[in-house]
Amino acid sequence: MNKEAGKIHDKFPCPHCGTLLTKRLMERAWVTKFDKAINQTIRQAKQVPVLINYSVGKQRFEKTPDAFDLALIEKIEQMEIPYWFPTDRMPEGYNTEQPKVSHGITHVHHFYTRRNLWVLGGMYDKAFKARHKLSLFFIQYAALGFAKISRYVPTHFSQVNRYLSGTLYVGSQQVEVSSGYILTGKLQRLIKHEAPRFGEIKVASIGCCDSSVFPIPGESIDYIFTDPPFGGNLMYSELNFLWEAWLKVFTNNKPEAIENTAQGKGLPEYQKLMTECFKEYYRVLKPGHWMTVEFHNSKNAVWNAIQEALQAACFVIADVRTLDKQQGSFKQVTSASAVKQDLIISCYKPNGGLEERFKLEAGTEQGVWDFVRTHLKQLPVFVRACFQQAEFCFQQAKQSRACFQQAKQK
Ligand SMILES: C[S@@+](CC[C@H](N)C(=O)[O-])C[C@H]1O[C@@H](n2cnc3c(N)ncnc32)[C@H](O)[C@@H]1O
Repeated sequence: MNKEAGKIHDKFPCPHCGTLLTKRLMERAWVTKFDKAINQTIRQAKQVPVLINYSVGKQRFEKTPDAFDLALIEKIEQMEIPYWFPTDRMPEGYNTEQPKVSHGITHVHHFYTRRNLWVLGGMYDKAFKARHKLSLFFIQYAALGFAKISRYVPTHFSQVNRYLSGTLYVGSQQVEVSSGYILTGKLQRLIKHEAPRFGEIKVASIGCCDSSVFPIPGESIDYIFTDPPFGGNLMYSELNFLWEAWLKVFTNNKPEAIENTAQGKGLPEYQKLMTECFKEYYRVLKPGHWMTVEFHNSKNAVWNAIQEALQAACFVIADVRTLDKQQGSFKQVTSASAVKQDLIISCYKPNGGLEERFKLEAGTEQGVWDFVRTHLKQLPVFVRACFQQAEFCFQQAKQSRACFQQAKQK
């Protein structure tokens, strides 16, 4: 490995015969063992500890594992973990294929070295027994950083949470960090910023449910801000599976609004699920009130699906702007066709019977002007933008009229 560049050498000599090799030319070494936790024989990619990074006081040192270190790891491998840990099978999916095929990781506990599984199990045990939500939230942070998805990146000083976000990718150089290493910084930030405010908000309701069925009465909400899934950008239920397994609560992925072949969902299914969510937003929103939709995706087709879903739910789109978040996420930077900036869609639920009138008047010039007048009344007045807004909503009204006529013909 080239430590300065933080990469495996493109070519390297065989230590026995000197032949120049590449990683691709080589076959992966596998080990077969009995996994007591699931009562099955499993086959996994062989892993060899090659480097120990340790500290004495504030000074860091490195060493190659010696016989004592290797014997200690082996001893831990043979011991029973005295705590509960999740052994759920990973779902079939887009992100779960690479760990399974390349490393033989098929169950949640396979994502952890035995030592980390032991430590994480111990921490969850204490937090659950204490029924301490802040502690659970705190430990949650380690569920991914402790996992084998954390890659060793020697070009970075810190090895905390070095996983490819938005994936469950398991690399060939993994880093196994200790609980102190991964959690100390977080603990200090938590004590300083979050713990003092924990419990401060007295009236808030936090729900975790499918947005197409809110247990909320109609016309009861003043404003909605929503950050929906964007087509097949991220496979939330797959990615959440690791920490959900620790919490023993899983996403019901049936209504999950994503594109995912393993779930049998393409763009039409995504659009249908999004339409159902937007219709529910429409139902609970007070008439004349606004919804802001954050949109972040690379593909025009997904953008069209979102717009059509909004229109099918009867929202009127009043404005679309870019949101410069300064720093692109992993997916934004790496996908060739990615939109570099997020979009913010402002739309509202029309007030005062526009829909009914529009149904009667659609196709007539009077209908278009009724739409324009109602729309302008709805908008906050900015003198400079007024002319542009009038132009924009006139175009929208024309478009809606064309859509209506097309639908009528059909
Ligand atoms: C773009 S993310 C939101 C991220 C969030 N704003 C944040 O900063 O953490 C979209 C979220 O919608 C959730 N989701 C997918 N389908 C849903 C549905 N039918 N109802 C409610 N939420 C859903 C996903 O699980 C994901 O957490």
